[in-house]
Formats: sequence, structure tokens, C-alpha cells
Amino acid sequence: MRTEIKNGQRHKAFRDGDTFIKYTAHPHIEEAASRFLGHLGVHAPAVTAHGDHLTAPWVAGKDLIQSDTKELQSISASQAAHTLFGEWLGGISDRHCGNYLVADGTVHSIDHGEAFRSYPDESDLYTAMIHPLRHKPGHPGFWTTPIPAHALEAAHDPVLEEYVKAGTAHLSEASASACMAAFRDRLDQVHPQMTVGHLLPTV
Ligand SMILES: Nc1ncnc2c1ncn2[C@@H]1O[C@H](COP(=O)(O)OP(=O)(O)OP(=O)(O)O)[C@@H](O)[C@H]1O
Ligand SMILES: [Mg+2]
Repeated sequence: MRTEIKNGQRHKAFRDGDTFIKYTAHPHIEEAASRFLGHLGVHAPAVTAHGDHLTAPWVAGKDLIQSDTKELQSISASQAAHTLFGEWLGGISDRHCGNYLVADGTVHSIDHGEAFRSYPDESDLYTAMIHPLRHKPGHPGFWTTPIPAHALEAAHDPVLEEYVKAGTAHLSEASASACMAAFRDRLDQVHPQMTVGHLLPTV
């Protein structure tokens, strides 16, 4: 049975059993972004695009309503670092508390309608994405938390460029090229022993 989700979302969204359904103009962006994050090992429900809407497995969790909630404390620093890395590399913004679900201490990144973006000033990306996972209560050493080595390795897999292309297919050629260039610039900054502190230099 389909039930509408009413929590201030901009698009009509529903739950139907174990399936999340959202009507949105560009569901292919979210499908490409969830594959991109999934390839890096970041928890993000796998999205399937269907023309005017998307579907994804239902995650039985809670939104991070406040950055100092118990849920936020239950997330490991390593998992937060990993998630931030994937979102940063993918140019995924709109990272507010409503766009993370926490289930059993695992954070799931959702709502990737704004992915693969290029910014005239990259610090705008940091400003848009750093909230709220950067506030890791109980982890004073969060800034030196390493990005998991397997994610750093997967970042160099050429398949990620295919996802960037798929997620920017609706844009003009010039805009799509700018998005690809921004992705490659970020990838050039990826290095072994990378920490959260390297992702968010403006903080
Ligand atoms: N896979 C999922 N499982 C369970 N709940 C979900 C899932 N995806 C989204 N939700 C819930 O539905 C709400 C709305 O989804 P989402 O954030 O994708 O849409 P939105 O904020 O309207 O999107 P947009 O920012 O693109 O307008 C989320 O805040 C979350 O509570
Ligand atoms: Mg949202």
C-alpha cells in the first residue's frame, strides 16, 4: 500500500512496502549518484530511475534532525569520513540533516538530486556539503580520521567517469564538461593517507 511521506520534502514521495518512491524531474542524476557512492563503498540506497520518478529500497532509519543527536554520536568517525569523501568526490551538495538516514549505527546518504556539480569556487561545495556530518560529537580527532584505503583506491576506477556522464546527460555539453573537469580536479587531489581534514580545508 502506497503511503505519502509528508515531512517538508520538495517532491512528492511515498513508501510502498519496502520501496521508497519519489517524483522528480531528473531521477537519472540520483541513480548515477547512488551508483557512484556505492562503487566507493559508501552506504546509499541503490536508486533506479523510471522517467518521472525513482525507486529505492526503503531504509528503516531516522533522519539526522539535529547534528548533536544520539544518532549522530552512534555513527563511527570512519564511516562519517568515508561518506563525506564520497559526497565530496561526487560534487554532491544539499547535505542537510534530512538527507542522512541512520539505521543501527550506520549512516545512509540519500537525496542526490544535486550531484556531480561544478562550482566557480570549490569552497562553495564544501560549504554546501559539510553540514552536518562534520560535527562528530565525541570525536575530537575527527579531522585526522583517515579516508578508508579501499575508497581511495576505488576513486581511480574509470567507471566513476561513466556515472558522472550519466548523471550530467541532461546538461548542455559545456556544462557537462565543466562537471567532468570539476570531478577530475577533485580526483587529482586524492592521495594515500588522505584524512577528513584534507576534504574540508575551509573549516
Ligand atoms: N530510501 C529511503 N528509505 C526511507 N526513507 C527515505 C528514503 N529516501 C528518502 N526517504 C525519506 O523521504 C524524505 C524525502 O526524500 P528526499 O530527501 O529524497 O526528497 P526531497 O528532500 O523532497 O528531495 P529534494 O531535496 O530532491 O527535493 C527523506 O528526508 C527521508 O525522510
Ligand atoms: Mg531531501
